[in-house]
Order: sequence, then structure tokens, then C-alpha cells
Amino acid sequence: MAEVIGYIIGEATPFEATFLSIKPPKLGQYVLVEHEEGDVLGMVQALISGSVSLSMDIHDPRVVERVKKLGDARDIYVKGKVKVLGDIENLNMPRSPPQPGAEVKVASTEVLVKVFSHEGASSVKIGNLISHPEVPVHVDVNCMVTRHLAILAMTGAGKSNAVAVIVDRVVRLGGTVVIFDMHSEYVKSRLGGPINVLKAVVNPSFMTASELMQLMRVEAHYHVQERYFRKAYKEALKRASMEPGSFVEHMEKYLESLEDAKLPSRERSVIASIINKMEAFKDRYEGVIDSTAEDVISRLKPRAANVVDLGHVDEEAADVIVSHTLRRVLSERKKQVLEGKGRLKQPLFMVLEEAHILAPAYRETLSKYWVSRIAREGRKFGVGLCLVSQRPKALDPDALSQANNMIVLRIVEPTDQRHVQQASEALSDDLIAQLPSLNVGEAVVLGMMVKAPALVKIDLYPSKPVGGDINVVEEWSRKLEEDLEEFKGLIEYPS
Ligand SMILES: Nc1ncnc2c1ncn2[C@@H]1O[C@H](COP(=O)(O)OP(=O)(O)OP(=O)(O)O)[C@@H](O)[C@H]1O
Ligand SMILES: [Mg+2]
Repeated sequence: MAEVIGYIIGEATPFEATFLSIKPPKLGQYVLVEHEEGDVLGMVQALISGSVSLSMDIHDPRVVERVKKLGDARDIYVKGKVKVLGDIENLNMPRSPPQPGAEVKVASTEVLVKVFSHEGASSVKIGNLISHPEVPVHVDVNCMVTRHLAILAMTGAGKSNAVAVIVDRVVRLGGTVVIFDMHSEYVKSRLGGPINVLKAVVNPSFMTASELMQLMRVEAHYHVQERYFRKAYKEALKRASMEPGSFVEHMEKYLESLEDAKLPSRERSVIASIINKMEAFKDRYEGVIDSTAEDVISRLKPRAANVVDLGHVDEEAADVIVSHTLRRVLSERKKQVLEGKGRLKQPLFMVLEEAHILAPAYRETLSKYWVSRIAREGRKFGVGLCLVSQRPKALDPDALSQANNMIVLRIVEPTDQRHVQQASEALSDDLIAQLPSLNVGEAVVLGMMVKAPALVKIDLYPSKPVGGDINVVEEWSRKLEEDLEEFKGLIEYPS
């Protein structure tokens, strides 16, 4: 028989009830509540303790001292709130509330294993329940990829570690993952096997005219400019297969030939301005524009973690690479699903670190458009998104609200908490209240990928070489030693 830890008191709804405890449980602990439709599983969401004799009405400390001297602590009570999660079998919600006096019992390991540790072909383990460390927590990969995932927390709380754990296990299942690695954190790790590192380069000849136009800042509402630009683009497509030279050079050469032609001076100045924009484009994106680079689709390796190394490029260039990759991936997957002719035969899971930079709330970026397209359409074409951010309030709320699954680690900042809550109806006030008290690596896990919301200690990924906190003092002292070595060589000792 399971241990009784309390009784339901007061008013209850089918979703929530208050209990008076005999033996106080822990926050986040799972309990069984006696119910006429059969025991239901619940989670302890709030705990409050008090004392009848030491109530709020006391205003004299001597009264407290006297009561304490009497040594009578029996009137101390602990009340708790339990959120009903559903019946033990399928977590279906009961249609009536538990009755006053109903027993609240400790949920056994067997029950919890049944709910949280579903081991099937499509599930992976990410950690263990905080309150029941013996219970592993598995997530359903199908739900995670098709309904997208957001990993949110303040800096250093364990987001990248969670990414590493998930990607490692998804790849072991045979999955294909793309990580946009803004700080070259993953490039030296192994994730489910050897990773495939992609250089942050893009070949303009694989870009669409609109994509290039945006990058070159040729404004579409200047119709004359757009007309000449598109002509040059078409011409370059033709020439690229026949003549040597880069795609942009072909465009420039064509436009220069027009400059010489007998055109009205107004048109000539439009052409000159496009050429200037192309020059500026080459300077701005020097390093990421490479006319010899292969198409990103052919550089992706199936059944592996593909890490796009963006650590050495600035945000603007990263935006170009990410948006281009997202667009190409979605388009190839669409072709595959609709016509069976795409070059990506397998579904993909796309991980965006620093998602608030790539898809910000109050600014337009190239990637933001494709992030929201994939957030809305990806499900049908097997393209999943994982948005990782330490600033939820700066992240595009539209994209965030499309992420049905969430792993929320420690968040202290109230505005960030509110944004996370707005994006997920499953995150109750009581769960939000727990966020500041989570330790590193501890998370609230929500959404379709788990049967019930869970407080989870995420596994520690064994080898993550970069990304951990730097030991600043050690690094400084190392520098000091190096300087001293250098000095030694300069000092001339009298013979
Ligand atoms: N689940 C965990 N268990 C134990 N330690 C952890 C766990 N997750 C993270 N850590 C520790 O915290 C450190 C920081 O974690 P991580 O790099 O994942 O944080 P982050 O949220 O990605 O930070 P940032 O916002 O700076 O990217 C890790 O190096 C590791 O030592
Ligand atoms: Mg990180």
C-alpha cells in the first residue's frame, strides 16, 4: 500500500485541489489522489506551512517565545496545492473533482516509470525526475521534431548541454540534425558519432534573385532597379555554366556592358548604383561569399549532426547563412514530400542557438521569415525547429508560440518568465514560480513530447569542450607567467 501523505480539504476542481499534509511532500513531487473514477496522478505545485498558535495576528515577540518554550509544535500544518494530471493509464482528465477527505498518496516508482519512461522506437532519454531520481524521463522524438522545441533559460543554466544531450540521442536513433553554432561550441564535440562541420560560406549562384537582392540592398520598390537586377541575375545564370568567373562578376560584367550602351542618363545612373551596391555587398560579406562553394544541401550529411560553424562571422553574415540554409532545406523537403524528388530524403531537426538574434521580436532579419515559415509549415514536411535562447523576451513571439514543446531551465528575470508563460498555456503560475529556484541543468519540460509536465534534471553531456564557464583567474595567471617568460629573455644580466 502506498504511503498516505495527506487529505484533500476545502473546495476542489477536476484540475486542482488543496490538501493538508501529514508528511510534507516536496515541490514537484508526484502524488496519487483517491478519486471515484480511479486514482489520478497529480503534481505538488505549491506548499505553504503555518501555525495556528503562531498566526499572523501575533504582534508581540514574547508570545512567540512563550509558545516556543511550551515546546508545542504540533499545531504547525503544511498545506499544498496539487495539480491533477489525469488518470494513471492514459492521463485522461477526470470529469469530477476529488472529494474532501480523499487520500493523497506517494506515487510509486512503477506508476511514474509508466508515465515518464516510455521506451519505444521513437523516444529518447533526456534526464531524470528531480523529485524521483530513479525515474528516467523520455521524450517522444516524433512530437519534438514535428511540433518544434524551445530551450529557454538564463545564461549558464544548461541550454547548450541540453542541446548536446538531445542531438546526441536523436542522431543515435538515425536522425539528421543541423546546428547553427553561433559560438563554435560544438565544432570539436562528438554528437551521436562524428559530427559534420560546415564552413560558413554560401555560393551566390545557389541563391534566388530575391535573396541576392535583399543582401545587396537593392530595393524592390524601385522598379527600374529591380528590373535591371533581375536581368543581370538571369544573364549570370546563363553565363555561369559557360564562362569562368564568379556569379557576382558575371552580373557586374553584364551591367557594365549596359552602362556603355546608349541608355538615357537616368537609367545609366540606376545601373551604376546597382554596381556600387554589388561592390559594397562583396566587402560586407567577404569571407562568407564563396563562388566555389558547393550547395549547402549537398554538404549536409544524413544521420549525423551537421554543425554550421558561425563562430567567426558577424551577426549579419550569420543571418545570411542561416536564412539561406533554412530556405533551401524547406524547399528540398517540400519537393521530397510533394513530388518525391527532393534532395533531402530524410526529415531534419534544425537547432538555432541564439535564436533571439536570428529571429528577434522587434526587428526584421532574413532568418526570421524562414523561422516562422518552418514553425508553421515544417510539421507537414518533416522539418523541426529547436529555438535556443537566453532572452525569451527578445525572441519573436510568433515563432515561440509555435513551439509546442519547451525545456525551461532557470529563469530569474520576470519579463522573460512572462514571455515564456504567454507562449505556453501548460506553464502554470506555480511552475513559473519554480523557475528561479532551479539549479543548473534542472528544467521544466512541457508539451506533447512528454505525457505530463515534468521537473527534470537533464543528463550532463560528457564531452562539451567549449561553452562552459572560463576560469578567468586561471587564464589571467597563465598570461602573467607567459609575460614573465618573455621578460626573462629581455633582461640582460651583468656578467
Ligand atoms: N544537466 C547538467 N548537469 C550538470 N551540470 C550542467 C548541466 N547542464 C549544464 N551544466 C554545467 O553548466 C555549464 C554551462 O552550461 P551550458 O553551456 O549548457 O549553459 P547555457 O545555458 O548554454 O549558457 P549560455 O547562455 O552561455 O550559452 C556547463 O559547462 C556545465 O558545467
Ligand atoms: Mg549555450
